[in-house]
Amino acid sequence: MSDAFYVTTPIYYVNDKPHIGHAYTTVLADVIAGYHRRFGDPTWFLTGTDEHGQKVQKAADARGITPLQHADETVERYKELWKRLGIRNDDFIRTTEKRHTEIVQKILQDIYDRGLIYKAEYKGNYCVPCERFFTEKDLVDGNLCPDCRRPTTEITEYNYFFKMSQYQDWLIEYITSHPDFILPAFRANETLGFLKKPLGDLCISRPKSRLSWGIELPFDKDYVCYVWFDALINYISAIGYGTDPKRFSTWWPHAHHLIGKDILTTHTVYWPTMLKAIGIEPPHTILAHGWWLSGKDKMSKSAGNVVNPMDMADKYGVDAFRYFLISEMTLGQDAGFTEDAFVTRYNSDLANDLGNMLSRAVKLTIREFEGKVPKPGTPLTENEKVLLSKVSNAVDVMEKSIRELHPDKGIEEVISAVRATNKYMEQTAPWSLSKAGKKDYLATVLYTALECLRVVGGLLSPVMPEKMSVLLKSIGWKTEFTFKDLRSAGGLEPGSVITDPGQLFPRIQVEEKKAEPAKAAKPAKVESKKQAKDAKDQANLNVIVTIDEFFRSALKTATVLEAEPVEGTTKLMKLQLDVGGEKRQIVAGIAQYYKAEELPGRTIVIVSNLKPAVIRGIESNGMLLAAKAGDSLKLVTVDGGRFVSGASVG
Ligand code: MSP
Repeated sequence: MSDAFYVTTPIYYVNDKPHIGHAYTTVLADVIAGYHRRFGDPTWFLTGTDEHGQKVQKAADARGITPLQHADETVERYKELWKRLGIRNDDFIRTTEKRHTEIVQKILQDIYDRGLIYKAEYKGNYCVPCERFFTEKDLVDGNLCPDCRRPTTEITEYNYFFKMSQYQDWLIEYITSHPDFILPAFRANETLGFLKKPLGDLCISRPKSRLSWGIELPFDKDYVCYVWFDALINYISAIGYGTDPKRFSTWWPHAHHLIGKDILTTHTVYWPTMLKAIGIEPPHTILAHGWWLSGKDKMSKSAGNVVNPMDMADKYGVDAFRYFLISEMTLGQDAGFTEDAFVTRYNSDLANDLGNMLSRAVKLTIREFEGKVPKPGTPLTENEKVLLSKVSNAVDVMEKSIRELHPDKGIEEVISAVRATNKYMEQTAPWSLSKAGKKDYLATVLYTALECLRVVGGLLSPVMPEKMSVLLKSIGWKTEFTFKDLRSAGGLEPGSVITDPGQLFPRIQVEEKKAEPAKAAKPAKVESKKQAKDAKDQANLNVIVTIDEFFRSALKTATVLEAEPVEGTTKLMKLQLDVGGEKRQIVAGIAQYYKAEELPGRTIVIVSNLKPAVIRGIESNGMLLAAKAGDSLKLVTVDGGRFVSGASVG
């Protein structure tokens, strides 16, 4: 017991929009870390962002800003999402931070000094527009780029190579003799399959003439480091490798990398050989989970079926979303996301089973024992003993399944204990015991049910921290506890005050669900961005918002001072506005409908508290309102043309 535990997520590409796949790995790490904290293990949980490379450079170039400015903005999407999903990471590393770049350079120099890096000619088929190399077998129809289908050119350049090949035999032997190194076991076999072919050396540089956004090689200023070589090092640079040996040795032997199956080879081949080169043991475990699909289909931007985790959290609540992610995916396998599956699991496990159990026990205690936990009035019968032992067995199963990185199994056991408690309630029918003059036995039954709720609430708290804290408070227990507390029987003090928390998990009405928007989780029938927007608009028509929700948008009048089309675009117009004396700039897609000279002097309506955005490198602080029908668009203006600016609209 009390072994240290260090868990990491992949560091996510900073310019990707976070989706359910990213959310899953991070929630999984959060849940596993949460359990280890409850076991009393010293725990460290790291996540972060991967910020170098071609894609970031390209995106920044397109926006006319520096790659770092671009990363500084986009990293916030991840930080916001983790906050929203209740993620309690101990550290967040960005690969552009000095604490990381310095260690990458130090490691490169170290490996170079050990004679493990050499310079050689690199030949490949290069696609100039995509700025990527492809191997012969990637090419389509002879020499066409598999991405853009344009002809590639064979180019030769000099690069630096890491002598990865010399570790092939060592790696095979390491994987074979460490069954916990790669999980599930079939992924270890996949890596071993990959290692059946001769392992090449790894190209670890990119010439700056082609890509400058990266960490400079300390031994050659004309090159930057290959982004994967840089990124993998985050797992050790963040815990003090090369700067704080004590801290490093506290965490590293206990490192558990959680990854998706897409990045198996980089983690199970490149990474251990890199570590071997600098004399460090491989991480304890690399766990590759499966893929979230949209129904049965692959999620992809072009199919328009990517599930947005923010939407799910907004629609169903953070804890219910976390519960679904963790319980629905059998670790290692792929899982299909559909809102139907979500609603079915929610209604069954949370609304029916757990919600009912809580509400019955709490309501009866309030009615029969003035809202105080009763003291058992009779000795425990076989019935109570069997139930309590099932619940206490769930504690053991949960701990074991977390240590084996299988939270879904543990949850299954807890829900089965919840069902057993509901069954016990039905068998003992506490609602009729009082009338039958069996108040002493009623006290025993309710105490037993509340005690089961205490353990179940504790067991599910790393998955649903907020809801379980409400549950535990409502039955008069604490929210700071360890697994040891869950193991000791009779943890609930008779006399503690019980309060009714209301419906903890209100049932989702299926009819209601049909009228709601956010169909992103369904396999996409949507073919284009425009169609997707139209579909969403149409769906939004059916949504009722409260007056409070409506007033969260601060609508204000604004006078247009100046307008000019945004260079290089046909749709965008840059407007300078006066909003009650405050100067504002916004960028709007109205250039096809209005000429710049028609706009100054008009009083329009804007959403003034919209989060600022940068569009084509231009800052936009707000959004104007306009009506659109078919091919025509009209600005929403205030009747009579001129009106005071900065007035509230609503
Ligand atoms: N930057 C690299 C990782 C470097 S780690 C040293 C990277 N980033 S990523 O943004 O593409 O994130 C990849 C990770 O996101 C996957 O490994 C997985 O954890 C998660 N997922 C992305 N899409 C996913 C699904 N559809 N389903 C489940 N998880 C997937 O690769």
